[in-house]
Amino acid sequence: MADGTVYRQGWSLDDVRWQDFDSSKVDPRMLESMKAAALVEYNAPDYVTYLRRVFHDAGPKALAAIEQWGAEETQHGKALGRWAQMADPSFDLEAAFARFRAGYKPAHFADDKDQSVRGSRRGEMIARCVVESGTSSYYTSIKEGTEEPVLKEIAGRIAADEFRHYKLFLDTLNEQSEPELPFWKKLMVALGRITEADDDEIAFAFYCANVPADKEADIPYDREKYSRATHANAMRLYRRHHIRKLTQMVAKAVGIDPQGRIANIASALMWRMLRLRAGLSGAPAETAAA
Ligand SMILES: [Fe+2]
Ligand SMILES: [Fe+2]
Repeated sequence: MADGTVYRQGWSLDDVRWQDFDSSKVDPRMLESMKAAALVEYNAPDYVTYLRRVFHDAGPKALAAIEQWGAEETQHGKALGRWAQMADPSFDLEAAFARFRAGYKPAHFADDKDQSVRGSRRGEMIARCVVESGTSSYYTSIKEGTEEPVLKEIAGRIAADEFRHYKLFLDTLNEQSEPELPFWKKLMVALGRITEADDDEIAFAFYCANVPADKEADIPYDREKYSRATHANAMRLYRRHHIRKLTQMVAKAVGIDPQGRIANIASALMWRMLRLRAGLSGAPAETAAA
């Protein structure tokens, strides 16, 4: 499979070349991260329920787009879970997911309010754009960083979906009849969602995916520890150009010129901050593609 393959929307698990799987090329730390990512992706139906509430009167087209988005995210979870089960037959996606779901219940999933936790639909769309920018960049880094052919293909397919999701939410943001948000508010929503990457969702998914149920008593959940593990694994793969792209996508969603000076500075700051958090020192590595 050429690296430049363009993956279209609407693929299914049957389209993946599972027969190309090569266990000798599985990186154990990437496997840890893919198990955790599978759980987060697989949890999409709760987000669909929440987004359907927020957009309850937005019309059938918007609701159908939310359903389609959720189906694609769930499929990401299934694809990653199936790959992780091939790489580690002791991993059980459904069992790990049941533990994750039992322990991770953000307040906005539990209530029945129609209002977005971001204050408005525009705010909600900015937060979704931040998430899709992050996932699009993340799976691109997996695609480029793995030697395992099936994971390379899955990550390529998912990265393409995530980029389309970003565009969907950006278009939805721009179509809202609600008044435009002031710049500072857009920035606060975006920064708020970025810092939430520290929240329980990813760290707890990492724990449930990688600590077997029968070891829970010996190895209790430690948010800080598993958040660090997630972050350190991700930073092994991120290169400067991934973070630049991520920052440009977020900049566009908040109304900053993605090619301009502010976006450039934000990208450099973010790269430095991410490396510091991962305990990486020294000059940030540039790549030829950066
Ligand atoms: Fe996804
Ligand atoms: Fe997505």
